[in-house]
Amino acid sequence: MSRRRRIYEGKGKILYEGPEPGTLIQFFKDDATAFNARKHEIIDGKGVLNNRICEFIFNHLNKMGIPTHFIRRLNMREQLIKEVEIIPLEIVVRNVAAGSLSERLGIEEGTVLPRSIIEFYFKNDALNDPMVSEEHITAFGWASPQELDDMMALAIRCNDFLSGLFLGAGIQLVDFKIECGRLYEGDMMRIVLADEISPDSCRLWDIETQERLDKDRFRKDMGGLLEAYQQVARRLGIIGENEPVRGTGPVLVK
Ligand SMILES: Nc1ncnc2c1ncn2[C@@H]1O[C@H](COP(=O)(O)OP(=O)(O)OP(=O)(O)O)[C@@H](O)[C@H]1O
Ligand SMILES: [Mg+2]
Repeated sequence: MSRRRRIYEGKGKILYEGPEPGTLIQFFKDDATAFNARKHEIIDGKGVLNNRICEFIFNHLNKMGIPTHFIRRLNMREQLIKEVEIIPLEIVVRNVAAGSLSERLGIEEGTVLPRSIIEFYFKNDALNDPMVSEEHITAFGWASPQELDDMMALAIRCNDFLSGLFLGAGIQLVDFKIECGRLYEGDMMRIVLADEISPDSCRLWDIETQERLDKDRFRKDMGGLLEAYQQVARRLGIIGENEPVRGTGPVLVK
């Protein structure tokens, strides 16, 4: 037996060295964190659900010609991905006002925005991931103007596709966050979607009742996070009606 090399452990995921050069294994933990990890809890089974939901979304995006780092799911909690050079930005796409946008600009949560809005945040925990402009990004060299264009195009295509996907499941895509990276293939480099897309990184509201089906349940102490994520997975047809999702502990065989 040999121990796998752990490349990075973050708040929600662990990256291990992959089976081939240029690949990594992404492990989804059960940890839920918010407010730059000042709030932290373990939610048994969350990692399993996020792994499945993320697999479903990235598979669809790959098929649509929207490039992602995703190769395939390996097991309950792990997926094989292509290693990329992460661009230190969180790209947020918003369709409906919520969260920090509502707070900062005094726009009531739930207000449909006149058009989809893209925002950028500098990935830096010590600085609390501050919001930055395109000027900052190109001036400080976090991404070139061409890369910025590519990332915005990816974000918009992603928004169009995901909005439709969720709408078909009776869910409104309020906003979501993506991370992009540089994928080197020989002499070529292209920008691809990396990290994850899951109810941890999206705001998802029931279209009829506005019930929150995302991480806001945790941020706002509403409870029922696992049930909400399960609901999302069921509505997308990822898991069956009675399929157990808790990844830990033995499952009773009847
Ligand atoms: N394909 C990839 N190649 C290399 N790194 C990746 C890839 N996909 C995601 N990552 C990085 O792996 C880490 C995943 O861990 P996690 O999301 O738990 O981190 P985190 O605690 O949220 O911290 P961070 O602020 O870095 O996102 C992130 O830093 C993310 O940017
Ligand atoms: Mg992260």
